[in-house]
Amino acid sequence: MSEDVKQATTGGKIADYEKKVQSLMQMGGEKALAKQRGGGKMTARERLDHLFDEGTFQEMQLFVKHRSSLFGMDKKDIAADGVITGFGRVNGRTVFAASQDFTSAGGTLGEMHAKKIWKVMDMALDAQKPFVALNDSGGARIQEGVPSLEGYGGIFYRNTIASGYIPQITAIMGPTAGGAVYSPALTDWIFMVKNTSYMYITGPEVIKAVIGEDVSQEDLGGAVAHASKSGVCHVVTENDADCIDKIKALLSYLPDSCHSPLPCKSATDTAGRACPELNKIIPDKAARAYNMKTIVKAIADDNEMFELHEQWAQNIIIALIRIMGRPVGVIANNPMYYAGVLNVNASDKAARFIRFCDAFNIPLLTFTDVPGYMPGTDQEWSGIIRHGAKLLHAYSEATVPKITVVTRKAYGGAYIGMCCKQLGADYVMAWPTAQIAVMGADGACNIIYRGEIAAAANPAAKRAELIEGYEEKFNNPYFAASLGAIDEVILPADTRQRIVAVLDVMQGKKEFRHVKKHSNIPL
Ligand code: HXC
Repeated sequence: MSEDVKQATTGGKIADYEKKVQSLMQMGGEKALAKQRGGGKMTARERLDHLFDEGTFQEMQLFVKHRSSLFGMDKKDIAADGVITGFGRVNGRTVFAASQDFTSAGGTLGEMHAKKIWKVMDMALDAQKPFVALNDSGGARIQEGVPSLEGYGGIFYRNTIASGYIPQITAIMGPTAGGAVYSPALTDWIFMVKNTSYMYITGPEVIKAVIGEDVSQEDLGGAVAHASKSGVCHVVTENDADCIDKIKALLSYLPDSCHSPLPCKSATDTAGRACPELNKIIPDKAARAYNMKTIVKAIADDNEMFELHEQWAQNIIIALIRIMGRPVGVIANNPMYYAGVLNVNASDKAARFIRFCDAFNIPLLTFTDVPGYMPGTDQEWSGIIRHGAKLLHAYSEATVPKITVVTRKAYGGAYIGMCCKQLGADYVMAWPTAQIAVMGADGACNIIYRGEIAAAANPAAKRAELIEGYEEKFNNPYFAASLGAIDEVILPADTRQRIVAVLDVMQGKKEFRHVKKHSNIPL
C-alpha cells in the first residue's frame, strides 16, 4: 500500500472517531439539553466541568452501549448509556466521579450504565481515592428489568465495601426514587439541591393511593425536608454550582483514603491566639442559652467551620474545622436547641460522624454542655437506649486523638456520652463554669434530701439551702479535677492554645484494639 493511501485510511478512521465522539457529546440532543437547562439544572457534563480542575477530567467508557432488545430498546441509542464516568483533579487532588445524564433516557440505570459505575468505583477503590456520584436519574430502566436491579445491587455492594476505605459523596441533582435512594444512603455524605432534587422510596401518587395521604413532592422528599426532618440530607445547596462548590469544600478536609495522610494546609492562624471573648460567653444563669457555634468558630483556624447536618438535630453540632492547618472533627452540644440535650437524632448524628472521622483518621474534639438525655415516652419508645448506646460505642471504638472541653453542664450519662475520660478521651479540659455531676442540683436534692426537706419547718427554705450546698460541691469543675476525671481547668480564652498543644503532641497516637472481625454497634 502506498503511503498516500495508508494516510487516507488512517485519516478516515480518525475522522470517523471524531464524528462518533462528537455525536456522543450531544448527549440526549438539543431539545433535551434545553429542557434540562430550562429547569435550572446543569447538564451532566457541565457538572463535571465545574467539579474538576480545568482540562483534568479523563472520561472512561464513553462508547459503552446498552444491549437490551426488549420493548423496542434495540432501536434506541442512549449516549454513553446515560452516565459519564471518569477521574480528574479537584483542587489538584485525584477524585473519581460518575455523573448521570438525565437528557439521555432520563439517566436511567440499566445493565451497562451500572457496569460503568461499577468500573469507576472499582478504580477509585484500587487507586484509594474519593468517589463522587452526581445523581440525576429516573431510577431503574424499566425496559431492562432484572439487569437494572442487579446493577443497583452491585453499586450497593461497592458502596459498602468502600465505606470507611475511601470517602464517598453523593449529590442528588434530580429525581431519586425507589431503591435507587440506597446508594446515596450508603455513602458518607448526601448533598441535595433545593427545588430540583428529591428522594423517596414511594412518591406522592403511590402514597395517596395506598394510605390516602396528600403530600407534594418537595414536602415529601425535597432537600429541606430531608435536611430538617429525616436527616437523610447532610448539606442543602441553592443550585448545581453551589452544590459542587460545597462538595469541593468538604473534600478539602478529607484524606484520599483511610491509609492516606490528612490534607493539611500551611497554618494561616496562630497557635497562641487567645479568644478573650469566650471568657464572657457563658451566661450567669444556668438556664440561659448561648450558641456553641460561636465557641467552635472562635477556636477554629480563621474562624472557619464546615458544618454538616446543620438543620437536623440542632441540639448537637457536627463540623469539620482546621487547627493549625490540620482537619479536626467537632462534636458539640448546642444549648440553643432543647438546652443541648441528647436525644435519638442527636445520638445518631454524632455517632455516625465520630465513626466517619475515626475511619479517616480525623481527630475528634468534643465540646460538652449537656443537661442529660431527653425524658419522655416519645424518646423512650423511639429507642433512646438503643440510639444513645451508639454514641458510647462510637466514642469508645474511636482510636484517633480525642479531646473534650466541658464548657458548662456535664450531667449523668450524658457526661459519659460526650466522651469523658473513661470512653478514651486523651485529654479532658473544663472551664471554671463547668458543672460536672450525676444530675442538676434541683433533681439531686429532691432525691437525696427528700426526708430532710419534708421534715423541715420551712421546706422551701430548707430546700434552697440544701441546693446551695450541693451546688457548692458539684457545680464547678474542681471536684472532678481533684479526682483526675478531668485533666485541667482552663480559662476559656486559652482554649485554642490548649487544643493546639494537645493535638500537636497526640498527632502520632497509636491505640490498639483486640483483633476481631468487626464490632456490633447497636443499630
Ligand atoms: C425507563 C424512564 C424511566 C424509567 C424516566 N424514563 N424514568 N425510562 N425507566 N424508570 C424516561 C422517560 O420515558 C423519558 O424518555 C425520559 O426518561 C425523561 O423522562 P420524562 O418523564 O420525560 O421526564 P420528567 O417529566 O422530568 O419526569 C421525570 C420522572 C419521570 C419524574 C423521573 O420520568 C418518572 O416518574 N419516572 C419513573 C420514576 C420511577 O418510578 N422510578 C423507579 C423505577 S423502580 P423519552 O424517551 O421520552 O425521552 C426503581 C427501583 C430500583 O428505580 C431498585 C433498586 C434496588
